[in-house]
Amino acid sequence: MRKKIALIGGGQIGQILAMIAAQKELGDIVILEIPELENPAKGKALDLMEMAPHGNYDAKITATSDYKDIAGADVVIITAGRPRQAGMTREDLLAVNLQIISVVAAGVKQYAPKAFCVIVTNPLDAMVYAFSKLTGFPRNQVAGMAGTLDTARWRAFIAMELGVSVCDVSGTVLGGHGPDMVPLPRLTTVGGVPLTEIATKEQIEKLALRTREAGTEIVKLFGKGSAFFSPAWSAIVMAESYLHDKRRILPCAALCEGEYGVKGLFIGVPAMISAKGIEKIYEIKLTEDENALLQKTISGVKKTAEETKL
Ligand code: LAC
Repeated sequence: MRKKIALIGGGQIGQILAMIAAQKELGDIVILEIPELENPAKGKALDLMEMAPHGNYDAKITATSDYKDIAGADVVIITAGRPRQAGMTREDLLAVNLQIISVVAAGVKQYAPKAFCVIVTNPLDAMVYAFSKLTGFPRNQVAGMAGTLDTARWRAFIAMELGVSVCDVSGTVLGGHGPDMVPLPRLTTVGGVPLTEIATKEQIEKLALRTREAGTEIVKLFGKGSAFFSPAWSAIVMAESYLHDKRRILPCAALCEGEYGVKGLFIGVPAMISAKGIEKIYEIKLTEDENALLQKTISGVKKTAEETKL
């Protein structure tokens, strides 16, 4: 039997998620939308079914507004919520998206209590925290998609700046999904060559700044809405590592219970995603400067998590 992937939200990110999941044949796909948007979502699902003969995939893609239809999903990816508009921070979305996540959490808890859940909705760190509190799901079962995207951006910008293949750029970004996130140049390599040896200090600072502001750069260019291709792929990589037990080590918002001195908060940390979900969090020995930056982002995450009052 095929795996089942439930996509909560059929907007910009949701529709790309459906397309990539189908092309990768990760399983059958159910897009869940609010009743007012059920028909457009059904249209997207049908369009993707009609793409299958040329896309060369076998997957059943459907859309619904009834949580019953996500029953037994193996993976749930949540993008439901308002996106940022120009001039907004991710935190401006907290109140409205918290209401949406509360409804989603109840539906997922009832119908897909065993699913590996990837949260994409912003403000990411607070929404994944809220989802975890509201569902009470075990820590291995819930992850926020942020570091995977932030690291993809860090890698992309490095490759663009140095004129090298992005495939050879390896590194990680820690912390919250906001301007205080912490790219780690000391631990970034290009084909095994330390970034710190092939890029100047000025170049590295510029790349780190661009990474921290990357979501905002896209929001400004769009004028309306936020990034969707790269967030979708980042969530898929996490889902795929779970479904195929790939055991990839991906930076994602995971519940820390003492790691990095954090208790009870979701922080972007390197985590191994296996068939067990978040199987292991890796603690990196940080320098004093890196740790100071991490502590700053942790206090920001703590503040938005507290604002959920959960
Ligand atoms: C971004 C949004 C998805 O970083 O948070 O583009």
